[in-house]
Amino acid sequence: MMPSIDRAFFTLAVLAGLAGMLLGIQMGMAHDFQLVPVHTHINLVGWVSLALFGIGYRLGLAKGGGLAVIHFWVAAAGAILLPVGIYLATTRQQEAVVIIGSVLVLASMLLFLVNVVRAWNTPAAAG
Ligand code: HEM
Repeated sequence: MMPSIDRAFFTLAVLAGLAGMLLGIQMGMAHDFQLVPVHTHINLVGWVSLALFGIGYRLGLAKGGGLAVIHFWVAAAGAILLPVGIYLATTRQQEAVVIIGSVLVLASMLLFLVNVVRAWNTPAAAG
């Protein structure tokens, strides 16, 4: 069973945060900072952005429902494919995945905008 949309976003955000931190620790231990852009995008597109989406849905600042579920899967795919794509572009000069990941991350923010605007006329939890 899928959890509510706010919890789904927040759980994936925490998992991304853990992955980003582990990569940060690994980079520090190895004194190899080639993957800093991968680390920053796991943390900022994964942990921070997904957590903000989850909080937005939780507070009623964005409207839940079917479009929010589509938003979740687009955001999840983007949060995974963008750092993987940056890794492939950095280490193997392969750019296809980073392009797909970028478009998904942009699409996810546009879907969030739609759900934020759709929530304009509903009362937010925080008033
Ligand atoms: C266990 C936790 C973390 C560790 C061990 C860690 C480690 C690192 C390391 C070693 C660097 C490279 C520094 C350098 O190039 O000199 C770095 C850069 C960076 N980290 Fe983390 N990090 C952690 C958590 C986070 C989190 C939670 C975020 C964001 C929410 C974050 C965002 C960034 C950013 C934006 C940079 C690039 C800074 C710059 O280039 O000026 N990190 N981190």
